[in-house]
Amino acid sequence: MPQGKKIILGVTGSIAAYKSALLTRLLVKSGAEVQIVMTDAAKEFITPLTLSTLSNKPVLSSFWTDRQSGKWNSHVDLGLWADLFLIAPASAHTMAKMANGFCDNLLSAIYLSARCPVMLAPAMDVDMFHHESTRENIGKLKQRNHYILPSGTGELASGLIGEGRMAEPEEIMDHITNFFSPIRRFENKKVLITAGPTRESIDPVRYISNHSSGKMGYALAEAFASEGAEVILVSGPVEVKPQNQKIVLHSVNSAEEMYNACLQEHAGADIAVLAAAVADYRPAITAPEKIKKSGSHLEIELIATPDIAMELGKQKKPHQRHIGFALETENELENARSKKSRKNFDLIVLNSLKTPGAGFGTDTNQVTLIGKNDVVETFPLKSKSEVAKDIVNAVAELL
Ligand code: PMT
Repeated sequence: MPQGKKIILGVTGSIAAYKSALLTRLLVKSGAEVQIVMTDAAKEFITPLTLSTLSNKPVLSSFWTDRQSGKWNSHVDLGLWADLFLIAPASAHTMAKMANGFCDNLLSAIYLSARCPVMLAPAMDVDMFHHESTRENIGKLKQRNHYILPSGTGELASGLIGEGRMAEPEEIMDHITNFFSPIRRFENKKVLITAGPTRESIDPVRYISNHSSGKMGYALAEAFASEGAEVILVSGPVEVKPQNQKIVLHSVNSAEEMYNACLQEHAGADIAVLAAAVADYRPAITAPEKIKKSGSHLEIELIATPDIAMELGKQKKPHQRHIGFALETENELENARSKKSRKNFDLIVLNSLKTPGAGFGTDTNQVTLIGKNDVVETFPLKSKSEVAKDIVNAVAELL
């Protein structure tokens, strides 16, 4: 817990600045001493009064408290005072300044004076997020060992859909808690995770796939890695990217490729988590050329793909633990239980497409865990990172 820790919370100009109110509240509640530093742009999005009330301290944003009497806010003192300099939201502009040493406001001057660790929660529109200059700036900040928290993917303030949404305050709190008192239950453990959809080619331009975004599998990869695990992430084509450097990514397309990658890695793994939505069937023949439109019907013969979970289940050694997923639309519990035993899972995570906000694509999920002796535990709808933590806790109990 950040109890008793001194934290500077830098707030920059982004619509996500409204989330800094809740973040401040959570930090103060956890016992941290919080000094808010705002840029002028941030004040367009949230008032200093809100943040000073929540942090029980005046908000600082300029070098001067009283210019006439020469009283000023020393960026040096502030930089030395803090145990952590957290910038949330961190706008593209502020990150560009930090990456390049610009120092034209109190926040950037504190950054250059701070000796404490620096953590950033980027927030911006999807195209800004993926712009080469932003990627370069984030790369530079990472090289300085700053903690760049994962950004969410979804609907942005602009109405565009994509990456760039600031992490939720609860997720940022988890990172801070883990930073000050890391729990490392999976140190020296290797975890194999499958994530995302597979694509089964019909011809050079078409394929069969599904709506999996990879968010659930990637959240699990981050959760295990943050607890010290070495993570091998075998992923179908998705937009998300792993953040933790302990995650080794194997990108694949088809079920066959995912199967081969998993077979290679499984023997060395202590835990396998099968979160991918693998296509059960693929076209028997992939046409070498684009299939031309002809007539009102087209029949494509499908044949079964390898069942990765089933095959790994057969190879499972006594020390290994397998966790599967069941994505159901009916007879949920019954189907999940049957998959658990057929595929030799130690634990199965049931998510239902009937539950709003659960399953494919969303940032949230609602799961029921069926574990040892088929004991059932149902969790409320939560963010996928929170769900990942519940699953990781259940796996820690299995070990
Ligand atoms: O990626 P997101 O958008 O975040 O969505 C997450 C999710 C809904 C994809 C995920 O939470 C999930 O439920 N993944 C499993 C989906 C699925 O394929 O379920 P299933 O009931 O068909 O398969 C049962 C289990 O066998 C799964 O662990 C699956 O990974 C595995 N399997 C299935 C077929 C196959 N050929 N190989 C497998 O390993």
